[in-house]
Amino acid sequence: MMWIISVLSTLPYLITILTIATSNTSSASITFQCSFQKDFTTFHHDFQYVEFYECFLKTPFYITTRNSTVDIVYGRLTSHASEKSNNDVTELFINRKTLHFMPTNFGEIFKNLKYLAVWNSQLEEINQPDLKQFPNLVYLCLRFNNFEYLDADLFKFNPKLEFVRLFGNKIKEIHTTAFEGLTSLKTLNLERNICVDKMFVNSEDEVKEFVENLPNLCQFSNEIANFTENSE
Ligand SMILES: *[C@@H]1O[C@H](CO)[C@@H](O)[C@H](O)[C@H]1NC(C)=O
Ligand SMILES: *[C@@H]1O[C@H](CO)[C@@H](O)[C@H](O)[C@H]1NC(C)=O
Repeated sequence: MMWIISVLSTLPYLITILTIATSNTSSASITFQCSFQKDFTTFHHDFQYVEFYECFLKTPFYITTRNSTVDIVYGRLTSHASEKSNNDVTELFINRKTLHFMPTNFGEIFKNLKYLAVWNSQLEEINQPDLKQFPNLVYLCLRFNNFEYLDADLFKFNPKLEFVRLFGNKIKEIHTTAFEGLTSLKTLNLERNICVDKMFVNSEDEVKEFVENLPNLCQFSNEIANFTENSE
């Protein structure tokens, strides 16, 4: 009896220890529905008659820590078109979810992703490792999120990108090499950000000129420099 009581009384501590031990590797359950699409809602005027196999995430999920993973819940709420599987998915569409950080295993689940759209989902950061998992990306739209910085060599592992849409974020600093290596970039939309409010659609020359002149527009501000110094 005494033994049981003593075990029971230590249980809360054990649970706390376990929770702390696992808090760095949280995961969230996702469900999605996939179908062939040929519409213009996600892509606007970037593509005209491209057929793509899209999955959109359904149930709410919450990712609020970095390096989280997602687990697919198969069943009624997750569905593929007949004979299709995760490897056939070319577009992933996420809208109005809580996704503060990009999960680290989207690229493992959807190995052939070409189009990625994360809208209105409170993304706080977008870094090179987040994007490295999608080497075939042609189109990236992260509109209406909360990230502030575009780091050096951000798209180093996404050399096929042609369309980058980052409007409606809080971008206040763009490293001069942020867009380096994107030789096929045609459309760049940075409207409604803090240091920049510009868009270039289907114009490789304009994008190139803009990127070359970036240092004049979104350079390190004193405020940010101080913040960086103080936090080190
Ligand atoms: C996330 O993972 C990267 C690479 O393994 C590591 O460098 C970084 O410290 C991790 N960040 C957090 C907050 O766990
Ligand atoms: C940055 O820090 C320096 C030294 O502490 C200070 O003099 C300066 O006013 C700060 N700049 C801003 C923009 O806060």
